[in-house]
Amino acid sequence: MHVEVLSALLCLVATAYAGCPLGFHQNRRSCYWFSTIRSSFAEAAGYCRYLESHLAIISNKDEDSFIRGYATRLGEAFNYWLGASDLNMEGRWLWEGQRRMNYTNWNPGQPDNAGGIEHCLELRRDLGNYLWNDYQCQKPSHFICEKERIPYTNSLHANLQQRDSLHANLQQMDSLHANLQQRDSLHANLQQRDSLHANLQQRDSLHGNLQQRDILHGNLQQRDSLHGNLQQRDSLHGNL
Ligand SMILES: *[C@@H]1O[C@H](CO)[C@@H](O)[C@H](O)[C@H]1NC(C)=O
Repeated sequence: MHVEVLSALLCLVATAYAGCPLGFHQNRRSCYWFSTIRSSFAEAAGYCRYLESHLAIISNKDEDSFIRGYATRLGEAFNYWLGASDLNMEGRWLWEGQRRMNYTNWNPGQPDNAGGIEHCLELRRDLGNYLWNDYQCQKPSHFICEKERIPYTNSLHANLQQRDSLHANLQQMDSLHANLQQRDSLHANLQQRDSLHANLQQRDSLHGNLQQRDILHGNLQQRDSLHGNLQQRDSLHGNL
């Protein structure tokens, strides 16, 4: 590929798009690129693959009308490659070398394999405004690439929703984390309270000991006073 063509193609695919890449034209569920360059059938298929697409496949009347109508409006190209050939077996035309044709719109009398060397499908302007014709695969022609339309805005929306939901999950996780920290701190407070409670019990028990000591002290004083009374009695007895 030529460098300037490559960079032009790169520019096409690098641009953000909604539905179809820039330069591709939408019809129903497909996007089409009508080439501004000319190349052989095989090279054209390579260009389309490079654009993450394939040479166009026409499956029905509607698609045929769109493509031929668009080519007529552009009015630029003498002919366009589509993605069919009978290269594998003469007369057996297949899309992309494998899918059989359920719809055709050949120019009357075609395909005729003129000269025994026409194996690729072209749309040709001078044949009834781009009716189908078989042509020599190596001839440089314009071509049409097709890719499935991407519901880009939908997928972007889905991604944003997913991001929001992840964000919500993260916030929930943070709040759970905060709750756990709060729980741990409450737990620490409870342990502190239990330890204070134990101290109070110890204090109460000390207090009990002190009261017991006071009682014992009271008893001792009573005993001493009784002892005093007895000495008084003995002294009275001595007097008598
Ligand atoms: C033609 O029809 C067959 C059977 O319905 C299908 O498998 C095939 O993909 C069709 N070909 C194209 C080009 O749509």
